[in-house]
Amino acid sequence: MLSAVRSATTTVRAAGNQAAGLFAAAKGVARKAGSAEALVGGSRALSHHAPGSTSVGILAASVYVPKRFVEMSELEQVDGARAGKDLTGKYTKGLGQDQMGFVSDVEDINSILMNALDKLLLDYEIDPKEIGRVEVGTETFVDKSKSSKTHLHALLGDNTDIEGATVMNACYGGTAALLNSAAWVESSVWDGRYAVVVTGDIAVYEPGPARPTGGCGAVAFLVGPDAPLAMIPRRHTHSSDVTDFYKPHPMSEYPVVDGKLSQTCYLRALDSAYNGMVDRTAKGSDAVLTLRDMGANWLFHSPYNKLVQQSLRRLHLLDAARFVAHGKPVPESHAALAEWAAALQTPEGVVKSYTDRDLDKILSQVDPAAYADLVADGDWISKRIGNSYAAALHVNTCALIEERGQDLLDQNVMAFSYGSGAIATQFGYTGREPLHGRFSLERMQETLRARDTLDARVKASVDEFEASLSQRESTYGRADFVPLGSQDDVWQGCWRLKQVKADGSRVYDRS
Ligand code: ACO
Repeated sequence: MLSAVRSATTTVRAAGNQAAGLFAAAKGVARKAGSAEALVGGSRALSHHAPGSTSVGILAASVYVPKRFVEMSELEQVDGARAGKDLTGKYTKGLGQDQMGFVSDVEDINSILMNALDKLLLDYEIDPKEIGRVEVGTETFVDKSKSSKTHLHALLGDNTDIEGATVMNACYGGTAALLNSAAWVESSVWDGRYAVVVTGDIAVYEPGPARPTGGCGAVAFLVGPDAPLAMIPRRHTHSSDVTDFYKPHPMSEYPVVDGKLSQTCYLRALDSAYNGMVDRTAKGSDAVLTLRDMGANWLFHSPYNKLVQQSLRRLHLLDAARFVAHGKPVPESHAALAEWAAALQTPEGVVKSYTDRDLDKILSQVDPAAYADLVADGDWISKRIGNSYAAALHVNTCALIEERGQDLLDQNVMAFSYGSGAIATQFGYTGREPLHGRFSLERMQETLRARDTLDARVKASVDEFEASLSQRESTYGRADFVPLGSQDDVWQGCWRLKQVKADGSRVYDRS
C-alpha cells in the first residue's frame, strides 16, 4: 500500500492526499515548480513582500515519525516484571504517555531530517530554488563537524545559495533555528526566498527510569512573511548554566541525566519565561493578565505528558502570585492558591513549590477544564511518539494545526520551549488569514495528516524495541558497517542509512 501510492506517475498533490502514503516518497517523482505568484519572472524575489516583512511565521509544516512504536502499557509491565515491582500505570498514568516511537540503526538523524524535509517539499510543491535558508535544530550528532544541514542538500537540487547551519542546545535547537530563520526573513539582507527549519531527534536513554521518556520524531517548517501562523513580535527568554541533562560521552548515544533536577530546571525556566512574557504583554499597565488572557492555546516542550500537565497547572500558581505581587486580591477561581501565592513572594517559597506534592494536589483542582480547553488539541502526537527533543514543541504545533486548522484564526497560541543546559523561551503565534493564497491554516490541516501516519505505524513488542536499541548501541560511533536493522523498519520510499564507509562518511538511499 505504502509503496503503491508513490509511483513515478503519481502527481505530487495526489500523493499528498493518499491516506497512508505520507512517507512513501519515491525516487523520480517530479516536483512542480513554485507558483507563478511566488516567483517573479524567474527571479528569486517574491513579488508581494519587501525586505523587513511582517507577519513572519509558519507557512507550511510536515511531521516525520518512525514506522515502529512500543505500547507504554506493555513496557511498564515488562519493566515491572524484571524489577520485581508492579509498575502498572507508571508510564501511562504517571508519565502520561501512550506509546513511544523508535528507530533501529537503519535510520540516523540525517535520514530522519531528510524525510521531514522531503515531505515538506513534496506535499506543498515547493521548488528548492524558492529556498534561501535551511537551518537545522538537533542534539543528535553523528559527526563532530559535518552538519546535518549539509546532508539536506540531497533534496535541494542545484541550489547552492542557501544560508543556515545546524544549531544545538539540547531540546531548544529547533526553536533557535526557528527564531534565527524568522529574523532572517525580517532582516535587511532577506532576498525574498523562504527559510526552512528542520528539527528532530532520536531520544534514547540507557535502561532505567529515563528510558520510558525516550522517543523520536522530526518536523519541517516553511518560514516566510504573510504567514497563517505568524509569530507574535514579543517573547521572553530564560538562559542559565545548569547541568541537568548532557551528553559528555562521544561513544555513547545516551545522555547523562539528573531527572529530578531536570524537572526543577524546566519549571524554573517556565516561571521566568512566562512571567517575563506576561510583563512584556502587559506593557507596564496595572492589568494582571492570566494564562487564559495570554493564549487560547498552549504548547509546551513535552518530554512526557505529565510534565506538560504540571506546567499548565504551574501557570495558575504564577498567575495567583502575580495578583499578590500587584497588591490585588487573588480571584475566587484561584482562591485555593492564596497561601502559596503569598509564599511565592519569597525565594524559599519558590524553591519549595517545585517539589511539594500537596501543592500539586491543590493545583490539580484549580480550573480543571484548562487542560482540555487549552492544551489537549496539541498534545496527541507527542503522547504517541514520546520525546523528540528539539522537535517536541514543534510536533505539538503541528498537532494543534491538524486538529484546529481555520479555528485558530485570530487566536493566540502560546509556545514554551525548553532545552537543558539550559535555555527556554516563551513565545507565541497568532492564527491569521494570509493576504495571498498559496499557504493557509486549512492547507496545513489537510496536508499534515499525522494522525493517519500514527495509525499506519507498526506496533513492536518490548523485545523488538530493546533489540533495536541494542543494535543502535552496537553500531554507534563505528565506521565501516552496513546497518543491522531491517529495511522493513523504515517507511517504504523513505530515506535510510545505507552504509557507513571505512572513512566514517555516510551513504543514504531510499528504502
Ligand atoms: N501508577 C501511576 N502513577 C505512578 C505509578 C503508578 N504505578 N508509579 C509512579 N507514578 C507516578 C509518580 O507519582 C510520578 O508522578 P508525579 O510526577 O505526579 O509525582 C510519575 O509517575 C513518575 O514517577 P517517578 O517515580 O517520579 O519517576 P522516576 O523518578 O522513575 O522517573 C523521570 C521520572 C525523572 C522523568 C525520568 O523518566 C527521567 O529522568 N526522564 C528524563 C529526563 C526528562 O525527561 N526531564 C524533563 C525535562 S528535560 C528533557 O526534556 C530531556
